[in-house]
Amino acid sequence: MRALTALLVGPAVTLAAAIIPRDGPVPEGPWTAGVWRMPAEDNAVFTGDAINASGGKFYVNKNTSAYCPGDVANLDCSLYPGSKTVFAGGNNTLFLSVGVPGGQQVYIAADGSLSYTVPHSGALPEGSVSTGFERQRSESFGAPVVLGNAGQLWLMCPVSEGEPRERTYQMYVGHGPEGCLNTGVRTYTSSGPDAWEYT
Ligand SMILES: *[C@@H]1O[C@H](CO)[C@@H](O)[C@H](O)[C@H]1NC(C)=O
Ligand SMILES: *[C@@H]1O[C@H](CO)[C@@H](O)[C@H](O)[C@H]1NC(C)=O
Ligand SMILES: *[C@@H]1O[C@H](CO)[C@@H](O)[C@H](O)[C@H]1NC(C)=O
Repeated sequence: MRALTALLVGPAVTLAAAIIPRDGPVPEGPWTAGVWRMPAEDNAVFTGDAINASGGKFYVNKNTSAYCPGDVANLDCSLYPGSKTVFAGGNNTLFLSVGVPGGQQVYIAADGSLSYTVPHSGALPEGSVSTGFERQRSESFGAPVVLGNAGQLWLMCPVSEGEPRERTYQMYVGHGPEGCLNTGVRTYTSSGPDAWEYT
C-alpha cells in the first residue's frame, strides 16, 4: 500500500489512476501483457507494447524466444508458432501458457527481475517470489484489466541504447537497477498456448 501512496505524489498521478482497481469480472483464459505508460515528465509513451519472454526473463522491444522440438512423436509444431508471449493464471500464481508438460511458472527473482522457469523443471531460485500476482479491472477509460503484485511498482529497465520508445527494456517488479521507468501493465485476452515452450 505504501508504494501506491507514493505514486499519488507528483507527475506519476496518471499512472496511479491507471492502477486503482475496481470490482468487476476479469476474463477467463489466456492473455498477453503489455506496458502502458502515459508519463507527464518524459516522452516514453507505451500503449500496450508486448512484454515478451526471452532467456528466462521478460522484455519490451525484444522478440519472443520459443522452441518446439520437431522430433517428438505426435507433436504438431505447426500448432505452436511461438509468435507471441501468452500467460495463464494470474490469480496469486502466474504461468506461461505453453504446451510442454509441467508448464513454465513466472516468478520475481531476488533482484526484482520478472522471470520464468525452464521447461521440465519447477525449480525456483533462492529468494524468488511466485505468489501475489493479481489481475483486476481498473477504473481507467476502457476499463482495462491490469496486472499487479501486492501493490508493488512495475519497472521497465533499459538494456540497450536508443530512443525512449525504441530501446529494449527488461521488466522488474518492486525494485531493479538504476534508471528504470515506472509502468502500468495491462492484459489482453489471447488465444493460447501459442508456444510449446519459451526458452
Ligand atoms: C514480441 O515478440 C513477437 C514475436 O517475436 C514480435 O512479433 C513482437 O514485435 C514483439 N513485441 C515487442 C513489443 O517487442
Ligand atoms: C523479430 O522478429 C521479426 C519477425 O519474426 C524479424 O523480422 C526480426 O528480424 C526479429 N528481430 C530480431 C532483433 O531478431
Ligand atoms: C482467485 O482464487 C481464489 C482462491 O482460490 C478464489 O476464491 C477466487 O474466486 C479466484 N478469483 C478469480 C477471479 O478467479
